[in-house]
Amino acid sequence: MKRILFVDDEPKILQGLQRMLRPMRHEWEMVFSQSGQEALDALSKQTFDVLVTDMWMPGMDGAALLTEVMRQYPEMVRIVLSGHASNRTVIRSVGTAHQYLLKPCDPDKLKRTVDRAFALHDLLSDDPLKQLLSRLKSVPSMPRLYAELMDELKCQDASVKRVGVIISKDPGMTAKVLQLVNSAFFGVPRHISSPSQAATMLGTDTLKALVLSVEVFSQLKDTECESVDLERLWKHSMETAAVAKQIAVADGVRREVANDATMAALLHDAGMLVLAQNLPEQHQEAVVRARDDSLPLCDTEHEVFGATHADVGAYLLGLWGLPDPIVEAVAFHHCPGKSYGDVFAPLTAVHVANVLIHEWHQEDTAGGVEELDLDYLTQLGLADRIPAWRDVAEKVLSGGDAG
Ligand SMILES: [Fe+2]
Ligand SMILES: [Fe+2]
Repeated sequence: MKRILFVDDEPKILQGLQRMLRPMRHEWEMVFSQSGQEALDALSKQTFDVLVTDMWMPGMDGAALLTEVMRQYPEMVRIVLSGHASNRTVIRSVGTAHQYLLKPCDPDKLKRTVDRAFALHDLLSDDPLKQLLSRLKSVPSMPRLYAELMDELKCQDASVKRVGVIISKDPGMTAKVLQLVNSAFFGVPRHISSPSQAATMLGTDTLKALVLSVEVFSQLKDTECESVDLERLWKHSMETAAVAKQIAVADGVRREVANDATMAALLHDAGMLVLAQNLPEQHQEAVVRARDDSLPLCDTEHEVFGATHADVGAYLLGLWGLPDPIVEAVAFHHCPGKSYGDVFAPLTAVHVANVLIHEWHQEDTAGGVEELDLDYLTQLGLADRIPAWRDVAEKVLSGGDAG
């Protein structure tokens, strides 16, 4: 049974949570602590999967507790449930909390958030990898774009529009701002799936504080990263985003689906950046094995890490509370048949765009040419759309309309 630790200094809040979550008692074991210290004592006695904590508490506050839990129990999922969403509080917990919920939180939302955290835990079997991902504050950014963003934020008349444009070109920065605005970190109630919109919601001052003092973004140095060609991976991500968007538009899907498809496409290989930065030698080994033995990179990554770059990316983005359709698209972009969907979804656009782009460039993905999953597309009743999608991809790629 999964174990959750709730921490709040107000007995009434804890009683409320206990009452509200009573129906879940057969699925979850729940422990309720009234202070940070009490929580740490409980943690020293048994293992927990998820921590849900208040921010303002006398003695050890939420931010201090989160820091301690991250240090001692890095594999736990850390969620803030707070009534105070002042930017200062939020900024203190940005590096240590995976998600931020606002009080009062409706039971369904809380259940969904916790259930999702559990489902993610099952996605990765390897504990050290889980611990590593659970500690990560960022997906590394392209050095060039990181420098551009720094220059913009440091200048007197920094423009949120220009900042938004830079962020929307970088998978790492996009992932982080989507985490901040999709979680209730900044109290934004609606679903956002465009980095420019996210930057506008956050505003230049908050972005400055986040980037310059809390350092929510990090940059990947070329020298650190032997297993991937950064510029090439960046170009591939931008092209996938452009093609996935046009495929979604050509299929006349709702705007939200098209936006999610674009974001998911930009982020689909983010797991590769994470592996290349944090486990460079092993990732290099996976790349070399794929090349030498003509195997798909996913297979050799699985041999080396027990997980693929798709699993790693999806795990991290799910932990950060990004919308489900985006996480699903990242998780299954190489094997869409494993998803449960039966209609056109962001996953469809990302899978198709990824394959058509490799096809167009006549690239083999390390160990051989990747193909469209015809069974999956047939099941969706969309196999006859392939020629039209191919036209769309060609138009975007030959027109250089990938930015
Ligand atoms: Fe991939
Ligand atoms: Fe890809």
